Order: sequence, then structure tokens, then C-alpha cells
Amino acid sequence: MQYLIALGGLVVLVSAILAAMGFHGRPQVVGIDLGTTFSVVALKATDGTVSIIPDHVTGKQLLPSVVTYKSDGKVLVGDVAVAQRGRSPERTIFNAKRFIGRELGEVSQESAEHAYRVVGNFTENSREPNASSLASPAGFAIELDGKKERWVSPIDVGAEVVAHMRRSVTQHLGDILSIRRFLEPNSELLRRPETAFRAAGFEISRAVICVPAKFGFPETKATQEAFERAGMKVMRILEEPTAAAIAYNLHKGEGVRHVLVYDIGGGTLDTSLLYMNGNAVSVLSVAGDDHLGGSDFDIQMRRLLESKLERGDVQIADSETAKESCESSGLHILAEDAKIRLSSEQKVETRCRASDGKDRIFAIGRQEFEDASSELFSRAMAPVQKVLDDQMMTTDYINDVVLVGGASRTPKLRELLQDFFGSSKRLHTEIDPDITVAWGAASVLD
Ligand SMILES: *[C@@H]1O[C@H](CO)[C@@H](O)[C@H](O)[C@H]1NC(C)=O
Ligand SMILES: *[C@@H]1O[C@H](CO)[C@@H](O)[C@H](O)[C@H]1NC(C)=O
Repeated sequence: MQYLIALGGLVVLVSAILAAMGFHGRPQVVGIDLGTTFSVVALKATDGTVSIIPDHVTGKQLLPSVVTYKSDGKVLVGDVAVAQRGRSPERTIFNAKRFIGRELGEVSQESAEHAYRVVGNFTENSREPNASSLASPAGFAIELDGKKERWVSPIDVGAEVVAHMRRSVTQHLGDILSIRRFLEPNSELLRRPETAFRAAGFEISRAVICVPAKFGFPETKATQEAFERAGMKVMRILEEPTAAAIAYNLHKGEGVRHVLVYDIGGGTLDTSLLYMNGNAVSVLSVAGDDHLGGSDFDIQMRRLLESKLERGDVQIADSETAKESCESSGLHILAEDAKIRLSSEQKVETRCRASDGKDRIFAIGRQEFEDASSELFSRAMAPVQKVLDDQMMTTDYINDVVLVGGASRTPKLRELLQDFFGSSKRLHTEIDPDITVAWGAASVLD
């Protein structure tokens, strides 16, 4: 009874504060980018402003799309799961998006590249009784305590990531409403702010979702199922390049536009050519490289460090301040960091701790790194030519170029794209390329 009274009071309070903030009347819709490497959730207020909702555990905008299934049945999501990857590689599922809605026979190449075991549905009474059949849906075998095994589908993995983001939204709204100030510290409602939101008529269970333009019906349907399993109602499904174009308001322009969306994430490159005529958008062609992204540049940088070490192209330091060892795993961490710093600097230094106890100091120039990565850069540009060729178009037809994905920050890539399209065309890079897709998804409904 007391709980109900408290809830009633809170509903009034929540409604009043939400209304004052510009969230009134309509149920809230979030835009979600369930990515291969990272996921992002964005929310649009009634006054039109879009904001990215930080992860409720780390406060970061990007949630790694990584899930660890522990042997006791517990599930970890995001950065805590990433931290488990070294210790339990066989139960830490990343890149699940590469498997969603696909059959075992379609993913053999992917399976070979991951430490976890990819198998067909061996759940009891599965419609496909033979889990080794190439037609069985691809999923992951997770060992539980007592030698039992559980089959986890990519849909389950996606649902865990979505459910985690949904909690972030609830928590975030709870925080901005300062509900905490009005509640007893150990109040039941504080632990479940969603109850109050739902009672106040603010459902945070509707989403606009995005899928790659290359997804067919089975992958799209499976993605939608992941959201539904996490309790979200899917209001609309956008293709990712379309969402990116919407983020830049290109659908508000007059007349016909051709838009090239260049999306390079952690491990995949997708380029899409869009035809836009006001609100009508269609994807004319797509091309890409399923195995090219920021992580390939990390590996290239690590190789560069390794070769410098081998050649002795390093300084030996007197002091010992390095945190990472000169082993491959340590160099990989240094490589990721050096690559990011080289995006804004011409020359960087980094150091590792050698087995003799003395630090080795590397100096890496941007030019040197770009030369070492020349093959990656030519692979990165090939799909751009291809989407144009597929439509028998030249760069003259392209009105806008939109850059998406973390690796699109690479200065050399921007330079190559600018050269390709000519200096008269501006590349759209104003929005943080990691959040563009979620931003567009959140802003599409008005
Ligand atoms: C796996 O098999 C179980 C048992 O028949 C079924 O309930 C489930 O939907 C299947 N999952 C997929 C993704 O096919
Ligand atoms: C299951 O399928 C695999 C591959 O198609 C085949 O080699 C195996 O013999 C089948 N097993 C059974 C029990 O039918």
C-alpha cells in the first residue's frame, strides 16, 4: 500500500519534471546503433535536441558489443566483458553481428577467426536436429559448470547488449530528473526507476533501429528479434547509411541528391551510394570489405614497432617508466594508443619495458606509419570506386560525402577521400563519426 502511494506521488512528480524539460505527451523513442564493435543509444527530446546516453556503468558513449557468459550462468556486458576476453576467450562473444541471422555454412571463414566455438543450434528439440548441418542457425557453444553446454544465439548476445543500453536510458533519465533527491536512499523505486516511468506514461521501450545496407531479410529479422527479446518495440528499421545521411539533415534538402556514405569501423568497411529525393531515400549500391577496419591499422602499427625493435631502431632509456612490456601483447596496446595520437600529431613517442629491465623508446612519424599502411589504404579506397562503377557514375554526380565510424578519423583516409572527390566537395565530418548512426536513428521520428 505504502509502495503504491509512493508510486502515485512519484508519477505526478516525474510527469511534472519531464514536462518541464520538454518531454511531454509522447512516448519516448530511442535510436540505437547495435554495432559490430560498439553500440550507441541516442534520445531525442520533444524540443528536437538529440543526446547520446552514456553507459550507466562506465559513463562512456560507446558500449563495446561484447558479452561474456560465465560458467555459473552470469552474464557480463560491455567493458567488463572486454576485460574478461584475455582470461576466458572461449566464452567472450564479440563480433556477434557477423553471425546474426546466418547459417553455419555461411560463416565458416568467420568461425575460424574467433576463439569461441561456433556451432549450429544444439538446443534440445531444435527444429534442425543435426547441429553440424550447414543449414543450422549459427551460434556459440558455452560451457557451463558441470560439463553441460549451452547454445547461445547471436540474437541472445544482441538482446543482452540492448537490455544493457535500455538500463542506461532508464538510469540516465532517472539522473537528469534528480529522482534520487526525492527518494529514500534505499527506496524500492530507486532501484527500479523504470516502474515510475512506465506508470507516468513514459515508455522507454520503443526504438528506431539500424541495420547495414547489405543485410538481407534473415539478418534484419534476427536483429529485430534481438531488440524484442530485450523488451523493445521496434518502431522503424533504417539502413545505417540512411541514418547517417539523416543525421546530417540531408533528407531536408530540395530535389535529388546522391550521397556517398563511407563507414569504416573497428573491423568492417561499408560504402553505400544513396539516392535521396527529399524524404525518399534508397540505397543504389553497396560495396565494402568485411575484414578491414581500425583494428587492421592497429596490427600494422604493432608490426611497425616490432620491426623497429628488431632492427634496433629504438633508444635505450636509463629510466624505467614503461607500463607495457615489449612482448607482442604489450606492443599491441602501445600501437593502438600511438595510432590514435598520430591522428592529431605528426610524430609520437612511446616506450615499452624490455626483458633486461630497461625501457625501449620508439619514435614514430605519421608519414612513416602511412607508408607502412599503404596497402591498407588502397584496400580502403577500392570500394568507393566500385559503388560508383556499379551505377556507372563519376564523382561529379555525388552531392555529399558522409564519413562514419571511428577509423574515418584517420587523417590519411580523409585526405585520400578529399582527393578522390575533389576539393570542391566538403566531407561531412562534423558529427562524431562513432555516434552518427544512432544520432540519425533518434532524429528520424518527429
Ligand atoms: C534453437 O532451437 C530451439 C529449440 O527448438 C528453439 O526454441 C530456438 O528458437 C532455436 N533458435 C534459433 C535461433 O533457431
Ligand atoms: C550431421 O551433419 C554432418 C554434416 O552435414 C554429417 O557429416 C553428419 O554425419 C550428420 N550427423 C548425423 C547424426 O546425421
